[in-house]
Amino acid sequence: MSTLKFAVLAGDYIGPEVMSAALRVLEHVARQEGLKLDYTAAEVGGAAIDRHGSALPASTLQVCEAADAILFGSVGGPKWEKLPTKEQPERAALLPLRKHFTLFANIRPGLLYPELTDASPLKAERIPDGIDIVCIRELTGGIYFGQPKSTTTLANGDIEAIDTMVYRKSEIERITAVAITAARGRKKQLCSVDKANVLETSVLWRKTVSDYVAAHAPDLKLSHMYVDNAAMQLARDPNQFDVFLTENMFGDILSDEMAVICGSLGMLSSASLGARDNSLGKPFGLYEPAGGTAPDIAGQDLANPCAQILSAALMLRYSFGLDSVARRIEAAVRQTVTSGTRTGDIAFGRAAVGTTAMTDAIIAALD
Ligand code: IPM
Ligand code: MG
Repeated sequence: MSTLKFAVLAGDYIGPEVMSAALRVLEHVARQEGLKLDYTAAEVGGAAIDRHGSALPASTLQVCEAADAILFGSVGGPKWEKLPTKEQPERAALLPLRKHFTLFANIRPGLLYPELTDASPLKAERIPDGIDIVCIRELTGGIYFGQPKSTTTLANGDIEAIDTMVYRKSEIERITAVAITAARGRKKQLCSVDKANVLETSVLWRKTVSDYVAAHAPDLKLSHMYVDNAAMQLARDPNQFDVFLTENMFGDILSDEMAVICGSLGMLSSASLGARDNSLGKPFGLYEPAGGTAPDIAGQDLANPCAQILSAALMLRYSFGLDSVARRIEAAVRQTVTSGTRTGDIAFGRAAVGTTAMTDAIIAALD
């Protein structure tokens, strides 16, 4: 019997509610598939600030280090908003986790089922078959982490702040390799997004992606697009992309745009894969929903658990090599949603169910 050893970092507000939904689904498939779950919960984000004084305590990092993957909920909220930015749950938990485990490859599926096109702000005629694209975002380089990074008061009393955008060829190559694998599993089309008309890092980005794809994946159709145009094209005709690859900050911005055109944030999952393999020889990864902590609906059994459940499916696929089990979970979520069992965020005037009933329905669809 294979054992799935992972850390459970539920976080704040709806984080624990949707996390328990995902764990119920995992327990169910584990029983069906003869898998053993070995997970350890640890505090992160605001919950960790309250208990340990920091958003990512050493004890939590230890739990993650001992695991083969991290299932992450979401962190942050009004309770901690007055803290200095550097100490706030989002920044002080997520960024150090990404850096510590070199989680350089962020995979965000932009998926909108055709039955849910009402949820998108795009006109239905632009997306008759829903949306099905993937954003591959570089996650540990660029302006997020480049040095120097500082704020200084100058001699004349003015204040200067500096962020530095840095990329190395090796960093661009390793994320390109991930994008190639993603594109090969789909339509063999890859669009690399940059700002090569202005930025040095983007000139290197474009050349590196071109050379790497020419050398390693001549079977792919590669295109390049400036980021401002990409932002516009996403809103015009998202399905032209299939797989798009981009650097850290552009990916942050474009993936939020992608999330909104895909309707509810409650449906979007993500995987952040690390540079090192886990004890099973698969990528160590962190798996999290895109939607945030939704403080306004926390504790009321209202949150949509789908994104957390789909993130758990991504964990099975990438860190445990269980693609067929991941597919079963994805199919069960899809079947449940399209058959009309929906939480309020995707109900469009129909009767909505709560987090628990939604999870029950997904579990039933797994049988
Ligand atoms: C994301 C988030 C993070 C980011 C924040 C919370 C640090 O917006 O994962 O997209 O900017 O990367
Ligand atoms: Mg973001």
